[in-house]
Amino acid sequence: MLYVKIWTVGVLFYLNVINNVCNADTTFNYNSNPSVALLQRYIQINTTTYNDLGPAVKFWNVLAAAQGVKLKKYVFKKKMPVLVLKWPGTDPSLPSIMLNSHVDVVPASEQDGWLYPPFSGQISEDGKIYGRGTQDMKSVSIQYYEALKRLKEKNISLLRTVYMTLMPDEELGAEAGMLSFLQSDAFKAMNVGFELDEGGALDMPVIPVFYQDKVAWQIRVDCHGVAGHGSSFQPTNATATGKCHNVVTNMFAFRDQQYPIYTKAPINDAGVYSSVNLNIVSVSFFFQ
Ligand SMILES: *[C@@H]1O[C@H](CO)[C@@H](O)[C@H](O)[C@H]1NC(C)=O
Ligand SMILES: *[C@@H]1O[C@H](CO)[C@@H](O)[C@H](O)[C@H]1NC(C)=O
Ligand SMILES: *[C@@H]1O[C@H](CO)[C@@H](O)[C@H](O)[C@H]1NC(C)=O
Ligand SMILES: [Zn+2]
Repeated sequence: MLYVKIWTVGVLFYLNVINNVCNADTTFNYNSNPSVALLQRYIQINTTTYNDLGPAVKFWNVLAAAQGVKLKKYVFKKKMPVLVLKWPGTDPSLPSIMLNSHVDVVPASEQDGWLYPPFSGQISEDGKIYGRGTQDMKSVSIQYYEALKRLKEKNISLLRTVYMTLMPDEELGAEAGMLSFLQSDAFKAMNVGFELDEGGALDMPVIPVFYQDKVAWQIRVDCHGVAGHGSSFQPTNATATGKCHNVVTNMFAFRDQQYPIYTKAPINDAGVYSSVNLNIVSVSFFFQ
């Protein structure tokens, strides 16, 4: 029961922000909206993992100060700051709510065919924001912030303390960030009862809250086959490519069986299907 109740608060945070963006589809002036401008400024900070995150720390320091909330910085590994903004609740004895996001983004190069530079935060004519990390996951950080800011502006005090946590290295496996933070006394002292984290970016007027996580299973299959002259004729199942064909055929048969389950599944149930994708095919030649 406890969790259901807090979960509802989480949903409301999201809806608050998102409604303001989507209600105004026809009349909304993206270019003069301060929340959108804030997101653009955040995107413009190049937080590619391993970059100096100093400018991002400064960005959050200014925002915390503007709201009169405390920002703490923990550094478990050099150049990898973990930031925690604390929005105190009226009953600090209750377990708190943690709203997590990560600061870092995966690399982007202008040579990769971006319509606009990847750290521009440019808004196109049709209202799309371009920039590395816009979905993953700077927009979420700004949503958390804007929601908490609006509660404060409306003089709404929450019972529970809300922490906004910002991690430095999610894209690298989170060792210096979340993994170290979870083992720290600072985290224990937060007495977290509920956490919201990264979800999927969806083109919808609401943001669903997912309560399942899928586990990644990466499989590499090496197929070896008979050697011989390029013109020799071997049974398909004896050749490397024939074996690969078999693996791929079976994988796609499984995929085609799962895909219809996925299309019929409600948006909030990622548990009923298994997704599978063939990401890399490479051919090597060995002569023995
Ligand atoms: C962003 O930072 C990365 C890593 O330091 C760098 O390789 C890249 O050139 C930077 N991108 C821009 C547009 O400055
Ligand atoms: C919030 O409280 C402040 C200080 O008491 C007051 O000036 C302000 O009008 C209140 N805002 C709202 C939206 O109630
Ligand atoms: C491989 O293919 C040959 C020719 O079709 C067949 O005789 C043989 O039984 C197959 N071997 C296996 C292991 O499937
Ligand atoms: Zn992410």
